[in-house]
Amino acid sequence: MTEWPTFVEVVDVTPRDGLQDETGELTTEEKIQLIRDLRAAGVRRIEATSFVSPKWIPQLRDAEQVLAGLAECDNLIALVPNVRGFERALATVARELTFVVSASPRHQMDNLHMSLDASLANFQAIVQATEAGTVRLRGAISCAFGSPFHEEMIRPDEVAAIAKSLVHHGAAEVSLADTVGLGKPDFVRRVITAVQDAVPSTPLALHLHDRYGLALGNVVAALFCGVTTIESALGGLGGCPYAPDAPGNLNTEDLVRWFHLMGIETGIDLEMLGSVRKRLLGQLAQAETRQGELRT
Ligand code: COA
Ligand code: ZN
Repeated sequence: MTEWPTFVEVVDVTPRDGLQDETGELTTEEKIQLIRDLRAAGVRRIEATSFVSPKWIPQLRDAEQVLAGLAECDNLIALVPNVRGFERALATVARELTFVVSASPRHQMDNLHMSLDASLANFQAIVQATEAGTVRLRGAISCAFGSPFHEEMIRPDEVAAIAKSLVHHGAAEVSLADTVGLGKPDFVRRVITAVQDAVPSTPLALHLHDRYGLALGNVVAALFCGVTTIESALGGLGGCPYAPDAPGNLNTEDLVRWFHLMGIETGIDLEMLGSVRKRLLGQLAQAETRQGELRT
């Protein structure tokens, strides 16, 4: 790339990643309003929820009810970890499904309770069960730039091989996730380049968690590689409960402001986004108080 892109797609993952590790739980109506507000602020793609086990992520146990309240939305993404999650998601308005695996074998087992091969077999079954034109399937690779477990080294060629399997099975887009915020720009560039070499015609997205402000540096690395879809969350909320020491997501407002300052369009209204963040953080604080009172 010789010039900055003129437009970058910011995918906001607040309603899924942002809420999945919070002690305060929003009501279903608050979640629906959050998604409507993000849409009104101009966010074109929103990860709305996940169809995971309510035993493991109780915060998102009302996934069906949330999506039932959003019949008018055509831009919603939902995360699915297995065939059961896919079947649940298919009955909703979500039109893009993110199937998640991990580049860290230990995170893969802790988070999904199955090996990478077993996950890929689930994905294959999902693709086979998908009627053409109904949903777009994305593959997400957690821990693509670093593992939460110090004994594990993430290798670009291994991430590329996982991406290749996902695409081979039917993923239309691959999202590379820095689940624990360990990526540094040079390594991010190496991983992206290896993945691009392995799946040259597949669009990529970058899902960022932020440690020490490195995430924005990683956005620069992504733009230089031609990746222009970035995932972030309001207020820097978020984190995987099964990845020890995971910091919050890259902050959507910071990201959007930064793009606008660079002359890159996002289609997002920053002032409206600020109001959404303010209301959300207030609701989460209230929810935490409610839950605290219930516990005592
Ligand atoms: N949605 C709802 N329930 C599900 C489910 C899904 N996608 N997948 C499995 N279950 C239920 C089963 O029906 C079963 O229910 P039961 O105990 O009432 O019989 C129970 O969960 C156990 O099923 P099992 O196949 O043994 O799964 P598990 O307990 O090993 O969990 C996952 C597997 C993948 C569902 C679970 O690890 C999970 O949800 N992980 C996602 C974690 C996550 O979201 N992390 C952050 C985002 S990356
Ligand atoms: Zn994440």
